[in-house]
Amino acid sequence: MSFHAPKTRGGVLSDLSTLQPSTLAIHGNRVRENESNSILFPIHQTATYVHESVGTTKGYGYTRGGNPTVNALEQAIAALEGTPAVLCFRSGMAAISTLCLALLKAGDHVILSDVIYGGTVRLFEQILGNFDIEYSFVDTSNLDEVELAIRPNSRLIFIETPANPTMKLADIRGLAEIAHKRENLLLGVDNTFLTPLLQNSLELGADISMLSTTKYIDGHNATIGGSLATHDVTLTERLRIVRKTLGTIQAPFDAWLTLQGLKTLPARLELHCRGALRIAEWLEAHPSVSRVYYPGLDSFPQRALAEQQQKAFGGMMAFELRASTEQSLSFINALRLCTCAESLGSVETLITNPATASHCDIPLEARERLGISERLIRLSIGLEAPEDLIRDFGQALHQVFGGAR
Ligand SMILES: Cc1ncc(COP(=O)(O)O)c(C=O)c1O
Repeated sequence: MSFHAPKTRGGVLSDLSTLQPSTLAIHGNRVRENESNSILFPIHQTATYVHESVGTTKGYGYTRGGNPTVNALEQAIAALEGTPAVLCFRSGMAAISTLCLALLKAGDHVILSDVIYGGTVRLFEQILGNFDIEYSFVDTSNLDEVELAIRPNSRLIFIETPANPTMKLADIRGLAEIAHKRENLLLGVDNTFLTPLLQNSLELGADISMLSTTKYIDGHNATIGGSLATHDVTLTERLRIVRKTLGTIQAPFDAWLTLQGLKTLPARLELHCRGALRIAEWLEAHPSVSRVYYPGLDSFPQRALAEQQQKAFGGMMAFELRASTEQSLSFINALRLCTCAESLGSVETLITNPATASHCDIPLEARERLGISERLIRLSIGLEAPEDLIRDFGQALHQVFGGAR
């Protein structure tokens, strides 16, 4: 797997454009603003800032509006996204909610991927719908269906690719072309599963790149956070005002922890991808496994699109056993090394049953239609040795099926 530095725009990043991602992840935050010259950027754990004289500050007034440690994290993510305009939020959902409240008004329409994180579904169905914001869940892997779903009041296409949890892909370039034929229609990509290192949404033509930094960016299950990146300076300023008003900015300590995690992101991703391919191939060859959803497998229907827009196949996959729902859940419970927990992208291998966890609010009929069966198991491959993980899967399968297979 080889990484390429994202193309950069704007003065802040212009001198970073020649650096490789593994260097950028460590040196993307150029600020060294402290008296001791400590190698780590300090935590500015403060609610407010002293005015030098009435009305005169050093650029920061109150941490809900901005904070130097949060700003340092924003610069570090900016170096990977290839735009100076990045804002960090208290959670991935805070980022998506702030984006929607900054962009949308009553009567606007949003197109959402039909397979998408359960929290995003909840945001529209249980909150934004109450404010007369229209939305349609569309198979965004099909460009014709997206064209057909566009209305005169459509303002945003918001997709996830690969989608959580079935790994269905959407063609970012194709969707950007469709969106940009219309005035006022933006394309936003939830790029949590791949990060800008494995898929640069902005380079591919999207207007907004969203990350739940909780996942691969932090990488250690230590924080909850989110980010939004765009080349649109006016949109950034609007987002900044809405973030300040709602209070959705990332907290300084969490920003600092995320900043440390980010430095090893390129190295971690190499291992996540390598381990995931090995395990996907092992699972696919196992007689007790009926289907594996991983873009790096020849059997994955959209593998060509993955090769076109992704720089690698990532660390996420889903699979089904040739077994009942009950047996599938017993398999998860029988694992000793893999941890049954929500979230993904961390050094620990995490396993979940989306139907009872992240996607539990989606009605059964809709879940079945989208391929999110009761039996589906989602796997986030961590950094343990793949042989140890395989041994764990083997012993759990043995517990469920005995020596029968
Ligand atoms: C793809 C995706 N997007 C967004 C989110 C929400 O992020 P957070 O939990 O940081 O609010 C998640 C959380 O699991 C996710 O998996």
